[in-house]
Amino acid sequence: MNSEQVLICDINDEWSNSLGEFLKKSAFSPQYVHTGKEIQKDLFDNSEVTTLIMNWGVKEHGPLEVLRFIKTVTPSLRVFLVFESQVEFDESELTPSTIVKLGVTKYFIKPMGHQKIMTSLKGGQKFDTWKDGNESDENFEAVEMEINDKEFTRIKLKSFAMGARTVFDHYIKLGKSKYLKILHRGESFSINRIKKYSDKEIEYLYFKSSERAEYINYLNSLIKKSASKSSLKANTKLKMTKTGSELLVEEMYQTGLSPSLYKESKEMTEGVHSTLRDNPDIYLHIRNLISEDPNAYSKAYLTSLFSGMICIQIPWAGKITSNIVGQAAFLIDLGLLKLPPTERDLDPSVMKPEEVARYQNHPNLSLELIESYRFIPDTVRSVIKDHHEYVNGEGFPRGISGGQIYPLAKIVCFASEFSEYILKNQLTPQEGIRELLQVKGYLHRFDAEIIKCFISSLMQKELTSKTGAM
Ligand SMILES: [Fe+2]
Repeated sequence: MNSEQVLICDINDEWSNSLGEFLKKSAFSPQYVHTGKEIQKDLFDNSEVTTLIMNWGVKEHGPLEVLRFIKTVTPSLRVFLVFESQVEFDESELTPSTIVKLGVTKYFIKPMGHQKIMTSLKGGQKFDTWKDGNESDENFEAVEMEINDKEFTRIKLKSFAMGARTVFDHYIKLGKSKYLKILHRGESFSINRIKKYSDKEIEYLYFKSSERAEYINYLNSLIKKSASKSSLKANTKLKMTKTGSELLVEEMYQTGLSPSLYKESKEMTEGVHSTLRDNPDIYLHIRNLISEDPNAYSKAYLTSLFSGMICIQIPWAGKITSNIVGQAAFLIDLGLLKLPPTERDLDPSVMKPEEVARYQNHPNLSLELIESYRFIPDTVRSVIKDHHEYVNGEGFPRGISGGQIYPLAKIVCFASEFSEYILKNQLTPQEGIRELLQVKGYLHRFDAEIIKCFISSLMQKELTSKTGAM
């Protein structure tokens, strides 16, 4: 019999070990990690884990960040959340219904016996629902719908853990653009439900990609709220954000970036930043953007750094090019400041059509903002203008393609989307590129040569850059 793998992350080693020993007696196979980051790494590397038992106090990626990661990468995982005490639970301001919305299968408050967790692990097959305790598989009515295939993401049925809480509606596919909704969000996964509606062998369940984006937005707002609760002054926050990006950069260095390449890109990025800082007007705009969105600094910094790394690798780019893309990285999104405040944080995939139109116009708004600053070269302006245009023509605002796009904008386009992705999902660049390589068709929107250069700069431990700096 295969033992079920359970990942335990608690702040108390003694408690983890004694729970693990207890679970082993019933043929569960426990594994132990100590931080949120380790959870993510373990889940990414090991697809056999069915359940995560996570302490609310977990550090280095808090529990909400870990949940956001799980629902992006392994939405079928069962999650048990453990609080150290009733006081900690109360202070978290979570309620049973918000916990369900987060996708947590069950929560526990210490002190409680290990048996309680064991019962829940074993009882995963029992159907339960958060919306209505009386609802059961018998009176559930599946609804058939006609929806475009493009709206869906699929997930292997066999990866679902029994009792895993779904945070999106789940469907089975009946035919082209034809789906049957068989699980509502908030419900626990039930194999009986699926069997009832299909006697055929089902390999995948489907959910709408937009619902996942909605969930991530919801979690982002919770994470933001909990960050703002701490009585930090704006200045400290700014410093923390900077430290965050520096740490990430540090980690990239440790996890396999070429030291010379890293050093060169970092110096370049810092040089660009200090040039911009010397110009009070422009710096004020950058500061405004950062205070609106503390992540904006990390994103700009990383975009600048990655763009520089690509330039060092790419045969036709030189130091001047690096400087242009480095500057542009800090200016591309200034136009977001002109959007209504409520729209700045929205994920584009959940925006209303009029919001999308406003968002997609932000490259033009950025240009308007810097129009009077004559010291900004036209080349930088061209990068800003085209920084969301994709080589396959699916970008915005103009939807131009291939050779119509300003070449340096292609570098910044990739670097900025990639930075945003790894910051949002708290991944190292290596983890990020590994994930994106698996998303079918995703990288087609970028210039293949640029991706190749970026990957080679991530993969090589030591390379001689074109400028030869060490
Ligand atoms: Fe942008």
